[in-house]
Amino acid sequence: MKSQGKIAVVTGAGTGIGRAIALALADEGAAVVATDLDAASAERVAGELRDREANASALRLDVTQRPEIDAVVAEIAKRHGRIDVWCNNAGVSTMNRFVDLTEREWDFNMDVNAKGVFLCSQAVARQMMGQEPDAASGLRGKIVNTASMAGKRGGVGFLAHYVASKFAVVGLTQATAAELAPHRITVNAVCPGYVRTGMQEREIAWEVGLRGVDAAEVERFYVSDTPLGRIETPEDVAGVVAFLASPAADFITGEAINVNGGSWMD
Ligand SMILES: NC(=O)c1ccc[n+]([C@@H]2O[C@H](COP(=O)([O-])OP(=O)(O)OC[C@H]3O[C@@H](n4cnc5c(N)ncnc54)[C@H](O)[C@@H]3O)[C@@H](O)[C@H]2O)c1
Repeated sequence: MKSQGKIAVVTGAGTGIGRAIALALADEGAAVVATDLDAASAERVAGELRDREANASALRLDVTQRPEIDAVVAEIAKRHGRIDVWCNNAGVSTMNRFVDLTEREWDFNMDVNAKGVFLCSQAVARQMMGQEPDAASGLRGKIVNTASMAGKRGGVGFLAHYVASKFAVVGLTQATAAELAPHRITVNAVCPGYVRTGMQEREIAWEVGLRGVDAAEVERFYVSDTPLGRIETPEDVAGVVAFLASPAADFITGEAINVNGGSWMD
């Protein structure tokens, strides 16, 4: 139980990778607050965690809304006294040819994926800076961002706006890691590849339309583009987030770790 007694918050925890992160952190002994735009899904995940005898609760949180973020950070700090780990996982995608991309699509992806990480990191950093350092590690807190393979690899199809938003997350990870290190707060990111979630299902349907191939062909491409030869699972990502949240990673900051079966190695 590497995160025993830690207070961990996950955004976009209602399904997919966020749900798996919440489960992994709870399995490591953390008290988990599952947050999501969709309050009912966050509540379902908190229920699943409590069924595993974890300390878990749920709060609605739209990561694009500063007043809501401030209120959620204050509420969790009031309930638990501190926040040890904050996982910026919420994210969205849409797919389109660059020449057809609309401002609406650009703004939607940038607002949730990039601005959401900015707003949440700022609010939780302010909270963490006022906390006593952990006696064992000397750290005041940890932030873990879910970036993407698309945060390092621009040449993935029909995702220019998403790529821009995820490069922003990797950049923010480095910039905030440097600025927050003197306050003994670490900031790291994971960069998943082709992960089996609702987001992937939607992307396969869009690729079918944009590429004029069938869904099986799109999936075959995902597997052939992954040297380890299978579609990634949310648990593949969650294990690395749990590692970054654990004492084993106390001296890692500013890293964006590829978790993609070898699809991209830079
Ligand atoms: N699935 C993949 O292949 C893949 C690959 C690389 C990175 N990622 C990233 O992983 C993260 C999770 O993706 P996923 O595949 O689990 O997606 P998903 O669509 O299955 O789940 C995303 C969750 O985020 C929530 N959400 C959406 N907008 C929100 C907002 N404004 N505020 C709070 N919550 C919001 C949704 O309600 C949902 O519960 C995202 O940041 C995504 O960009 C996914």
